[in-house]
Amino acid sequence: MGTIQVKTPIPGPKSKALAERRAAAVPRGLSHATPIYVAKAEDAWLEDVDGNRYLDFAGGIGCLNVGHRQEPVLSAVEEQLARFLHTCVQVTPYEGYIRLAERMNQVTPGKFSKKTLLVNSGAEAIENAVKIARAHTRRGGIIAFEDAFHGRTLMTLALTSKTHPYKAGFAPFPSDVHRIPYAYCYRCSYSLQYPECNLYCARHLEDTFKRVVASEDVAAVIAEPVLGEGGFVVPPPDYFRVLTDICRKHGVLFIADEVQSGFGRTGRLFASEHYGLEPDILVSAKSLGGGLPLAAITGRADIMDAPGPGGLGGTFAGNPLSCAAALAVLDLFERQDLLERANQIGRHFQKRAKEWQKRWPIIGEVRGLGGMQAIELVKSPESREPAADETKEVSRYCYEHGLVTITAGSYSNVIRVLVPLVITGAQMDEALDVLEAALEAVGERQNAVAQVT
Ligand SMILES: Cc1ncc(COP(=O)(O)O)c(C=O)c1O
Repeated sequence: MGTIQVKTPIPGPKSKALAERRAAAVPRGLSHATPIYVAKAEDAWLEDVDGNRYLDFAGGIGCLNVGHRQEPVLSAVEEQLARFLHTCVQVTPYEGYIRLAERMNQVTPGKFSKKTLLVNSGAEAIENAVKIARAHTRRGGIIAFEDAFHGRTLMTLALTSKTHPYKAGFAPFPSDVHRIPYAYCYRCSYSLQYPECNLYCARHLEDTFKRVVASEDVAAVIAEPVLGEGGFVVPPPDYFRVLTDICRKHGVLFIADEVQSGFGRTGRLFASEHYGLEPDILVSAKSLGGGLPLAAITGRADIMDAPGPGGLGGTFAGNPLSCAAALAVLDLFERQDLLERANQIGRHFQKRAKEWQKRWPIIGEVRGLGGMQAIELVKSPESREPAADETKEVSRYCYEHGLVTITAGSYSNVIRVLVPLVITGAQMDEALDVLEAALEAVGERQNAVAQVT
């Protein structure tokens, strides 16, 4: 018998009752990808309050790369629970914070001397990366990318690209943020093709410094090594080298946002490693805490030391429980073959998804790096018109049949895989069977329409 067990129509009666209470008590601005209310979770599965069991391709939006409730993470947290919960590191510091900073300095790319600051969330970490870059360079400008997602606070919304639902209605945003196209080859902003394009989009940064903002006014370029919310877009291998060469030439820092791509998701601890990229500042969060809230800003020591004492911090930043969990997560990556598992998941997904693509042209592109995989759905391969409604339909079919997925992309037409890396081979096939059936439903309908017209 498989892992998935669907015993009631989804949502079940208890989930429905909770949804009613939620509508009365919680603002509608907080939306949910599924109507499923969770009762418990282990490894790569979730069980809802009605006793239905799902495989989890969302992993808390990429926060559970090591799996739900892994024993070493639970033991580390329990051990910390027995000692103290909170003191505030700015009042009476503790060793867990220091140990984690030391480990982060070791495991992030780049052999240079580094320092690490811990905070609570991805957005808070990006805010701090910007503060630190500005303090170091004494410049204000930040260059961000189309299709980027860096968070929901006001500064990170200024850096984030997608308008609806993230930015619309929340302006004004902090100024001095400039946006350039990312290497989204499937939808190239310049209608060029790699490799004939000679990475025009990266080289164009030089032009931006002439026509948009002077390089001497720019503190940093910030980029995700693989776009997360933007749709799991993987730039060509030499893209970041061209980009960072230009940054270096102009004394502009490079910040890698590895909040979603980090902690083993792409088959390396950090996606930057795939490109030989050594960011001046690297931001990680999500799976760092193994399910607890935590984020890290790791960078060259001289850059990190730019803000003066008291310039950085936060009451709960680097919470002792989260630090203990993160140290256990790092141990798991050292001991277990999770990185190889991410690569296996990626290879297996690509094999099956490329077969699906042959049958259903609604699948415009299959792409990804390691265990960070996605399919982009289009109305037709020729027009590449985004198929957002069909994507929603696929996601809905999946959760109604026991697979939790989430969508992504500036056009909301991407299904992404952020499954805990501890999923077994049999569970992975079980999950992909559900996804295949969902795609068959929309794909066959589209094929039928194409035949008639
Ligand atoms: C690349 C990236 N940066 C930043 C963030 C913001 O992180 P948080 O939601 O923890 O604030 C996210 C969240 O999805 C992300 O994917």
